[in-house]
Amino acid sequence: MKIRLLEVIEDSPIELLLLADPSEKLVKEYLSRGQCFVATKNDEVIGVIVLIRTRPETIEIVNIAVREDHQNKGIGKRLVLFAIDKAKEQHIKTVEIGTGNSGLNQLALYQKCGFRITGVDRDFFIRHYKEKIYENGIQVIDMIRLSLDL
Ligand code: ACO
Ligand code: ACO
Repeated sequence: MKIRLLEVIEDSPIELLLLADPSEKLVKEYLSRGQCFVATKNDEVIGVIVLIRTRPETIEIVNIAVREDHQNKGIGKRLVLFAIDKAKEQHIKTVEIGTGNSGLNQLALYQKCGFRITGVDRDFFIRHYKEKIYENGIQVIDMIRLSLDL
């Protein structure tokens, strides 16, 4: 598997991006101002990660997704560790990430990569998404915020 920057002329892997974030509007908004990296295997895109600069010396991983038939094989973890390395190269001091209250496996992954919970953005998914979203049988309401100091 290889990880590379998505070229400007390439189509973004929208189906994958929508796995992590069902709002096409939000996805397009942060794609336009972020760096999108793709994981490929035999020239097929099987994973994606999007980084945006937020505050000074801070980036946020705003989207990470692995194609369903390739999940649970360590690709998500490699993408997160790749983003951390990119941040270090760019002299970033803090990497942030957020996930829904129902994202039990995501919370496990991020904490295994060193992230710590910093807070809760209550009602984030009620404010920003029209449809009700469910995951693991739990309604997605609040965003759990995590960060990693480099
Ligand atoms: N308990 C303990 N550890 C767990 C659990 C759990 N319930 N679930 C996962 N993990 C661990 C795994 O053990 C592994 O760690 P290890 O290698 O140290 O054992 C790690 O978390 C994740 O494993 P990967 O195989 O690297 O994960 P995967 O390739 O499946 O990618 C991802 C994870 C990106 C979340 C994938 O499942 C996906 O695309 N999901 C749908 C989209 C999504 O929810 N994206 C995140 C939304 S939040 C955002 O985008 C900022
Ligand atoms: N994803 C989705 N749902 C899950 C998951 C998961 N990963 N894990 C558990 N659940 C759900 C189950 O589906 C079930 O919900 P459902 O009936 O709607 O499907 C529910 O959580 C829990 O199921 P139970 O069978 O009722 O739980 P159990 O009898 O195992 O009790 C407990 C849970 C008390 C935490 C038990 O595992 C335990 O004693 N653990 C060790 C001690 C402990 O950790 N206690 C809590 C410490 S915090 C405190 O004490 C305040």
